[in-house]
Amino acid sequence: MHLRKLIAGNWKMNKTTSDAVALARDLAAALGQQNDIDVAVCPPFTALESVGKVLDGSIIKLGAQNLHPEASGAFTGEISAPMLRALFVTHVIVGHSERRVLFGETDSFINQKVLTALKHQLRPILCVGENLAEREAGATLRIIQTQIEAAFEGVSKELAPSVIVAYEPVWAIGTGKVATAEQAQEVHGFIRGLLAKLFTETVARKGRILYGGSMKPANAGELLGQKDIDGGLIGGASLEARSFVDLVRAAAEAK
Ligand code: PGA
Repeated sequence: MHLRKLIAGNWKMNKTTSDAVALARDLAAALGQQNDIDVAVCPPFTALESVGKVLDGSIIKLGAQNLHPEASGAFTGEISAPMLRALFVTHVIVGHSERRVLFGETDSFINQKVLTALKHQLRPILCVGENLAEREAGATLRIIQTQIEAAFEGVSKELAPSVIVAYEPVWAIGTGKVATAEQAQEVHGFIRGLLAKLFTETVARKGRILYGGSMKPANAGELLGQKDIDGGLIGGASLEARSFVDLVRAAAEAK
């Protein structure tokens, strides 16, 4: 069974509100008819409301880049799930490697975020991935297993397929060094097998597993043609309408 592919853009800390609105307008205009692929963009928090208005009625879903596990309280600078829901956000990136490495997010903190997102009907896009030293030490699958097991702790088998996993080898993010299709497929296949062990075959079959890390129109076709690669989480190439639209088209062809 082939799952419907998802192409999600992670705009990271880029774009003022007016730049974000302009990009969203271009994407909505270009992707208006593309209804065989799921598409989401994750602008910075400051642009969520304005971008949401532009995307209203389009096929493009609105995602956020992070959330706090608590619904409200004394957490200066943080954003909660109800705040995101109030802006019609449907997806949220959780555990991106930049948050893990630069902001010290631990597996258990990420697990709390996954549980909170699910509780508030937000679809978590859970990022996992090894760094270069871990890959070179042959520890890739062990690292992925630890991250997945921790992130899914306490998730029911009914809700598990709502968690979208994004395999993002840290050494491939923003570096132009993309994983080969074989390297990516090996890890994606492993993640699917792990989900079957932790939950059921059905969960493993239904849960989407995206690849992220220097995915571009030129390399997307081969990656997205792999059996267990169900889409992409795109950083750099999502910041321009042309490359993001080309990626969505590549995903449509690879389905
Ligand atoms: P990249 O980023 O496409 O720029 O490598 C991907 C990501 O960090 O999600």
